Amino acid sequence: MRTTTSALAVLALMAELVVAWPVHTPKLAYNPADEYYISFGPRPYYLIQNMTESPLKDQLESCENGPFGVTAWSIGHRGGGTLQIPEETVQSTMAGARMGAGILECDVSFTSDLGLVCRHDICDLHTTTDILLRPELAKKCHTPFTPANATHPAKALCCTADITMDEFTSLCGKMDGFNASATTPEDYQHGVPFFRTELYDTCGQVMTLDSYIELVDSLPGYRNFTPELKTPPKAVPMPFNGYTQAQYARDMINTFISHGIDPARVFPQSFTPADVYLWLNEFPEWGAQAVFLDEDGDDPSNFTTAVNRLPALKASGVNIISPPINYLLAVGGPNNDTIVPSDYAITAKNAGLDIIAWSFERSGPLTRVAADGDYYYSSVAPVVHYDGQMYEILDIMGREIGIKGMFADWSSTVTYYANCFGLKGPGN
Ligand SMILES: *[C@@H]1O[C@H](CO)[C@@H](O)[C@H](O)[C@H]1NC(C)=O
Ligand SMILES: *[C@@H]1O[C@H](CO)[C@@H](O)[C@H](O)[C@H]1NC(C)=O
Ligand SMILES: *[C@@H]1O[C@H](CO)[C@@H](O)[C@H](O)[C@H]1NC(C)=O
Ligand SMILES: *[C@@H]1O[C@H](CO)[C@@H](O)[C@H](O)[C@H]1NC(C)=O
Ligand SMILES: *[C@@H]1O[C@H](CO)[C@@H](O)[C@H](O)[C@H]1NC(C)=O
Repeated sequence: MRTTTSALAVLALMAELVVAWPVHTPKLAYNPADEYYISFGPRPYYLIQNMTESPLKDQLESCENGPFGVTAWSIGHRGGGTLQIPEETVQSTMAGARMGAGILECDVSFTSDLGLVCRHDICDLHTTTDILLRPELAKKCHTPFTPANATHPAKALCCTADITMDEFTSLCGKMDGFNASATTPEDYQHGVPFFRTELYDTCGQVMTLDSYIELVDSLPGYRNFTPELKTPPKAVPMPFNGYTQAQYARDMINTFISHGIDPARVFPQSFTPADVYLWLNEFPEWGAQAVFLDEDGDDPSNFTTAVNRLPALKASGVNIISPPINYLLAVGGPNNDTIVPSDYAITAKNAGLDIIAWSFERSGPLTRVAADGDYYYSSVAPVVHYDGQMYEILDIMGREIGIKGMFADWSSTVTYYANCFGLKGPGN
C-alpha cells in the first residue's frame, strides 16, 4: 500500500475518529479500510488454557475475541515466524507481520562484495541455507563440508563474506539446524530441534537489507524496523579487505537513509558497544533509539558487574538496554518460590533505561526447561514447569518490570498479550 502525503493527513484524521481501533498510536495512520486482519492461530489460546486460575488468566480470557491490531511491543525475532518458518526470510517476516508484530528484525551481515543481507550470523549459511547442496557455492565456504567419521562429527562453515550478494540471493533459506552425524551434504541439512518443524523448508526467500526495508515498508499497518549489526566471528577478521566495523555500522544506517525511512521507525541493535557509540556520535537521531544488546552477564561471576554498569551506560547516552529474558527474572518472594524482577531489571529501570527483552518462543515446551538446561528461563528454572506459565512470566516483564518490547520467534503469543493490555512498544 502506498499513500500520498495529503492522503496520509486525511487518514490520520480518520484514524482519530475510529474510536474502537485497538492498538499502537501510529506515527503514520493505519487505514482500517485496508482490511488486513492479523491472525494468531491456536497457540495463545492453548497457553491461556494451561494457566492455573488467576486474575491474569481471567483478563487474558476476556480478550479472546479482540479487537486485535499491530503493536510494536511485539518484535518479530529473525522475522517473527522463526518457530516454524525459516528465519530471516520473506516468509518469516510475512508470518511475523500477519501475527501482528509491529517491529520486524533483520540481522545485517555482509557479503564478499560488501552487500548487506539479512542473516543471523555472518557464518551460519551451512545451517540456515542450502549452500552445501550448491557445489559451485559450497566450494567457496570457509570450511567446506567434511563428512562425519567414527571419531569426528561432520563439519562445515559457510559465511556470507565467502560469496557475493548475487550468489547469496540465489540461496534458499531453511530452518536452522544440522546433522552432526551426516556423511553427505544432503543428510547435513536436517537436525532441527524437535519442537520446530521442517514443514516450510521449501526454499525460503532470503533478503538483502534493501529488499527487507522495501518489504516491511510495504506491509499494511504501521511497521517499524530493527536491524542488528553483527560482530564478525574469527573466521571473518575485521577489517575485511579494508572494510572496517565502523564503515559497516555507517553503511547499515545509510541504507535506511537512502530509502527515506524516518529514524523514529528504526531501532538499530548491536552487542558491540563501539557500534552503538558510533551511531550516537555520527547519527544522533538513530543512536537515540539504538538498542544495546547485553550478554555480558552470562557468566554468573560477571552478572553483578553487568548490573552495576547499567547507570553508566545510561549516562553515556544509551537509552535502550536489551538483555535476554533470564537476566530480568529471579526466584524470590516470601517463600522463595515465585518469579520476581531481578536486580538487573530493577537497576535498569531505576537508571531510566528502556528495556527490550529476547527471545520468547525460542525454548520449546517449558516442561523441559530444567532437564534441557534451557538458557532463556535459566534464572528461574527451579520454578518453571508448564507452558501456562509463559504468560505469567511475560506479565512480570510486561507490567511489573515495564519492558518496552519483546522479541519472539512466534509473534502471536506476544501480540495477543500486548493487545490485551494495550502495550504499544518503544517510543510510545
Ligand atoms: C498444564 O499442562 C501440564 C502438562 O504440561 C499439565 O500437567 C497441567 O495439568 C496443565 N494445567 C492446566 C491448568 O491445564
Ligand atoms: C575423521 O575426520 C577427521 C576430520 O574431520 C580427520 O582428521 C580424521 O583423519 C578422520 N578419521 C578417519 C579414521 O578417517
Ligand atoms: C543424520 O545422518 C546420519 C548419517 O548420514 C543418518 O543415518 C541419519 O538418519 C541422519 N539424521 C537425520 C535426522 O537426518
Ligand atoms: C568476565 O569478566 C572478565 C573481566 O571483565 C572477562 O575477562 C571475562 O571474559 C568475562 N567472562 C565472560 C564469560 O564473559
Ligand atoms: C531462592 O531460590 C533460588 C533458586 O531456587 C536459590 O538459588 C536461592 O539461593 C534461594 N534464596 C534464598 C534466600 O533462599
